[in-house]
Amino acid sequence: EKGAYRHFMEKEVHEQPESVQRTLSAYLDPVAKSARADIKAAIDFNSVARIQIIACGTAYYAGCIAKYAFEKVAGLPVDVEVASEFRYRTPAMTPGTLGLAVSQSGETADTLAALRWCKGEGLKTAALVNVHTSTMAREADLMWPTHAGPEIGVASTKAFTAQLAALLSLAVAAAAQRGRIDATEEARLVQCLLETSGLIAEALLMDPDVQRITYELSKARDVIYLGRGAMYPLALEGALKLKEISYIHAEGYAAGELKHGPIALIDENTPVVVIAPDDELFEKTASNVQEVAARGGRVVMITDAPQKVPSLSGDAAKTLKIVKGPTCDPFVAPLVYAVPIQLLAYHTAVHKGTDVDQPRNLAKSVTVE
Ligand code: F6R
Repeated sequence: EKGAYRHFMEKEVHEQPESVQRTLSAYLDPVAKSARADIKAAIDFNSVARIQIIACGTAYYAGCIAKYAFEKVAGLPVDVEVASEFRYRTPAMTPGTLGLAVSQSGETADTLAALRWCKGEGLKTAALVNVHTSTMAREADLMWPTHAGPEIGVASTKAFTAQLAALLSLAVAAAAQRGRIDATEEARLVQCLLETSGLIAEALLMDPDVQRITYELSKARDVIYLGRGAMYPLALEGALKLKEISYIHAEGYAAGELKHGPIALIDENTPVVVIAPDDELFEKTASNVQEVAARGGRVVMITDAPQKVPSLSGDAAKTLKIVKGPTCDPFVAPLVYAVPIQLLAYHTAVHKGTDVDQPRNLAKSVTVE
């Protein structure tokens, strides 16, 4: 039941401190400050040459974020592809590839077909699923669970952050097994992950600040989302969330791609949401904000470093709205900053009066292609 919440989506967004914690507990040992022994026993990432992630929609974006983590901390190459493309082309698979299906339901037709294709090629397969008895869970060699609990809202929220929690934990396990990090660094990353539940609770306190800017967003016809690094796929997820539940057209771009075309879209009627927690790319993203503001664009910047945003002069300053988020390690930032992105879509949709839990034309589980 929804309890005090207006929608299941709102309830599920607020459940994330617990759902992320539950999921982390399945992968991390809080006493040893390492990936759990049973997780490491089930797979040796030294025998994995490459990971091929296949997924759809929000699960695909979780996979794209995982690519940044696996390649950075574990030095393990990851490719990510939407299952509907993967299954109908003829992908060239290198030996030692792990086919990894990421799916809340474990039943999505395209993802299941892609998983079956990998099996047919003789690849080792894994399924990261929220429904542990699903077809993908049964058919893959290895089942990695998420513990989001039942997700009722059609737009995925807590399943997405549970996927990120599991995938980032697996990246730490892979890094340790492959000798990319020592025990001290493993302990540090595990500690970072174990603190995300508290940071997500902190991010939920952004709710009134986020809500305040959404009336204006709800009047827009188009919204642009920008991010760099792992914030780029989070920008894509933010745009998807807004489209799904508010029916406002939204697109996500890598912030560095702005000048290669999308900047032509910038005008005073097209709000730009910039996801920019403080990390090694912050200055670059901040300069993109200036480019947008200089063209009269209205910017909503979600960051923990407002003091580092270069001050804008004149009219440009008036169009910049900053929503302050929690300070966190860049490794876990996608998990924490998923929250304001979800709240932004939610409150915008509430202003528009759309059916948040049952958006038009969408089904929770897409078991036909
Ligand atoms: C977006 C959303 C969809 C699903 C996609 C995959 O909010 O819910 O994009 O993520 O249909 O579904 P699963 O994860 O069940 O394979």
